[in-house]
Amino acid sequence: MCGIVGYVGPRDALPILMGGLRRLEYRGYDSAGVALEHDGVLEVHRAEGKLDNLVTVLSATTARGHAGLGHTRWATHGRPTEQNAHPHVDCDRVTAVIHNGIIENFEELKSPLVAAGHVFTSETDTEVVVHLIEDALAGGLSLEDAARAVLPRLEGAAAIAFVSGRDPGTIVAARISNAGGVIVGYGEGENFLASDIPALLEHTRTVAYLEPGELAVITAAAVRFLRFDGSAIDKVRTTITWDPVAAAKSGYKHFMLKEIFEQPRTISDTLLGRVQRSSGLVVFDQDLRLSDDQARALPRITFVACGTAYYAALVGKYLVERLARIPCDVEIASEYRYRDPVVVPGQLVISVTQSGETVDTLAAMEEARKRGARLLTFVNVVGSQASRMADDVIHLHAGPEISVASTKAYTAMVVDLYLFAVYLAQRRETIAPADAAKLLAEAFHLPTLMDAVLGEELKVKALAYRYHEARDFLFLGRGANYPTALEGAHKLKELSYSHAEGTAAGEMKHGINALIDEHLPVVAIALRDSTYKKMLSTIQEVRARAGVVIALANDDDLEIAGKADEVIRIPRTNELLAPALAVVPLQLFAYHVSDRRGNDVDQPRNLAKSVTVE
Ligand code: F6R
Repeated sequence: MCGIVGYVGPRDALPILMGGLRRLEYRGYDSAGVALEHDGVLEVHRAEGKLDNLVTVLSATTARGHAGLGHTRWATHGRPTEQNAHPHVDCDRVTAVIHNGIIENFEELKSPLVAAGHVFTSETDTEVVVHLIEDALAGGLSLEDAARAVLPRLEGAAAIAFVSGRDPGTIVAARISNAGGVIVGYGEGENFLASDIPALLEHTRTVAYLEPGELAVITAAAVRFLRFDGSAIDKVRTTITWDPVAAAKSGYKHFMLKEIFEQPRTISDTLLGRVQRSSGLVVFDQDLRLSDDQARALPRITFVACGTAYYAALVGKYLVERLARIPCDVEIASEYRYRDPVVVPGQLVISVTQSGETVDTLAAMEEARKRGARLLTFVNVVGSQASRMADDVIHLHAGPEISVASTKAYTAMVVDLYLFAVYLAQRRETIAPADAAKLLAEAFHLPTLMDAVLGEELKVKALAYRYHEARDFLFLGRGANYPTALEGAHKLKELSYSHAEGTAAGEMKHGINALIDEHLPVVAIALRDSTYKKMLSTIQEVRARAGVVIALANDDDLEIAGKADEVIRIPRTNELLAPALAVVPLQLFAYHVSDRRGNDVDQPRNLAKSVTVE
């Protein structure tokens, strides 16, 4: 979850590190810090809370250096205090370490160090590493060799980097497991390090990724890659083609609002090139290697994902079963590997993930691979660990998503899953060509419909302002929009800090009706589809119990007005595509409730964008 940056070169390292941290603040914002090495002297500055606090601390210093590391933290071990902020230093304040992940055996490693006289100043698992390095350096090793001696002793998840006055002008960075990316950026006479691409884009587009068990020795003149056993690695360099300007707010008050409004464009990008003109077939690029024969023979699909991506996967199950007639399960990734899952021969396991770095999702993929599954990932971040682990990759084309709350990646997931369901159905001949053509034509119309929904923002905002004080909310849906209800509730609770529950409308009578009273706004997704009549009955039942109903309905629905207290309207599209459209007003609702309450919309409390610890 933490963000890591590094620089070595002739320029003043501090502004480069701070610029990188600014772009990574979404990864964690409990504390931040920098370590700068200057002519063999190490300087460390840290601050609790957001990056601006570190800026204040630094303004009272003359900190400088030509090699340095920066870190923004999301706390795992130890409270979010200045004392627990990274970088951590050894007793002599000569070497500094930054780390993303958890060192599971830190207590075991710490006891002998304490017994030998090392003084620990934090509650973190990370600090143990710098004391181990201190001992190795005292034994006469270089920073590189000290790292190689210490790293194999660490168990758990970690991306880690060191800078030391003992080895001026050098950064050593390593990746210990799948969790926590480490990316080296190549400059001219200078080199960079980061956990995520956006931190590098201002300086370079030429990068290389570390794999687990690899380390990089970075100086201004060169970068060497090696395995922990010391054997050299010849790394392939990759060129990043994204637009860095896309990562700025472009005049919107928050990244989240910008990302909500980007959706018509991201959906157009998602659809681009995905339907072959000559044949009308859905095609993905060469990263989907599944052959048509394999697609025809698929006996079962299991989706694994977390949070919002899990709700997208629930829509995926609905679509694939409906169109391609393949039995599907959807598993919360953090549960999957702990319950001895069954993988049948030929089974496809599909991970759905914006970041491609969510540790639970990666662990579920690993578990599925061990059990013989073929792995496909739907992933947004190009070059992420999920994309490198999977046999097949479908990139979401949503562009960088900065706001912690996922919006445009969710709709891109749903639309890509829709395309994938049609793709499978075409190969398996479970739908007629004319029906496939109709489904695809409707998908191409979706960006226009989304524009229309976004055009109604002010109405949703007024509604959000009317209900922003409610303590609890209930979201109801059925069929393909049951996951939409779950996602609507998820978005609202993560942003507004209100309790919100999503449920299948048919479950009301089985217990949830007991919650209904005049203080509970109930958002009911009642579109004109095969579940419409049932949804109307549920709405009537809620109102009969004095519940307040906010209906999400189609704009040609004349019946609903008399049945609900409030109506949000969206245009009609086919039932299978509707989840991608219906979620948009719910995103706006959550956004405006949160903003009205004065919450930090882009960085909700206790959350981080990339969850790289278990
Ligand atoms: C919600 C949200 C999280 C993520 C979840 C999975 O708005 O952002 O629930 O959806 O942490 O993250 P990815 O998709 O990166 O695997």
